Amino acid sequence: MKKIMITGALGQIGTELVVKCRALYGNENVLATDIRKPELDSPIMEGPFEILDVTDRDRMFELVETFKVDTMMHMAALLSATAEKNPLFAWDLNMGGLMNALEAARTYNLKFFTPSSIGAFGPSTPKVNTPQVTIQRPTSMYGVNKVAGELLCQYYFDKFGVDTRSVRFPGLISHVKEPGGGTTDYAVEIYFEAVREGKYTSFIAENTFMDMMFMDDAIDAIIKLMEADGVKLINRNAYNLSGMSIEPEMVAAAIKEFYPNFELAYDVDPTRQTIADSWPDNIDVSCARAEWGFEPKYDLTEMTKVMLEAIEHKDKVK
Ligand code: SER
Repeated sequence: MKKIMITGALGQIGTELVVKCRALYGNENVLATDIRKPELDSPIMEGPFEILDVTDRDRMFELVETFKVDTMMHMAALLSATAEKNPLFAWDLNMGGLMNALEAARTYNLKFFTPSSIGAFGPSTPKVNTPQVTIQRPTSMYGVNKVAGELLCQYYFDKFGVDTRSVRFPGLISHVKEPGGGTTDYAVEIYFEAVREGKYTSFIAENTFMDMMFMDDAIDAIIKLMEADGVKLINRNAYNLSGMSIEPEMVAAAIKEFYPNFELAYDVDPTRQTIADSWPDNIDVSCARAEWGFEPKYDLTEMTKVMLEAIEHKDKVK
């Protein structure tokens, strides 16, 4: 990985992935791209940035050529709740963008990463300790995109020898950039509202368990997987990953350790609750551990401490 191109650089993952990759491989060696322009004071502007609509194949190829890219990290996508509101657009963006990025990888011989998700599972998937290889019949457009994406990546590996690698991310929790339009977003919003309002109304119901992971662990996992010996990657498209399996009351209890008066209420959003109910309670990450040494560092307690402190600090310097 000497010249990396990242799509969706202003998204929830992209924002932190660009910064980490630049710290590891040099600012000038990481090209950040997004359909929107960053603010001038954004850390994304500390290295090369180009506007890119990932459905524009010619522009994507042109950037790969000009920048002499050798690794593509394709992050641009709509999340589950937004995709459900506009399924045709989600198909065009999520699948069209992925096809273009895979074609760029095939044409220019790039190493390739794109994330799949726990959204690639569905109601008929075993809910507890969900195996790496299991039933995948998702009922959301996002899930359909993710399963198709996993299969496409595997196809490009088998058929064309493209070095594709992927993970099934759980909900990702970060204080740097808030997600947009995901089913797991409650687990991010709850921290911001705890600091700012002292209370939170959850759109996901009590007792709804989903896998989550702190963003630092997610970024480390991408780097570790991309640096791993390819020969050992049996399940390369895509590995189950998780840092914890939690539900709203557990997050509230962890927050109350620091904010004893924190209050949690519920106003369930039927669209996102239906999606959440179709996803696993907790997934088995043993293949990622065995094949490339996945080892998340943050549990709920540690993550809660870091989240609350970081948001408090953010608000103070504003
Ligand atoms: N965080 C994502 C979502 O909720 C899951 O991949 O859509």
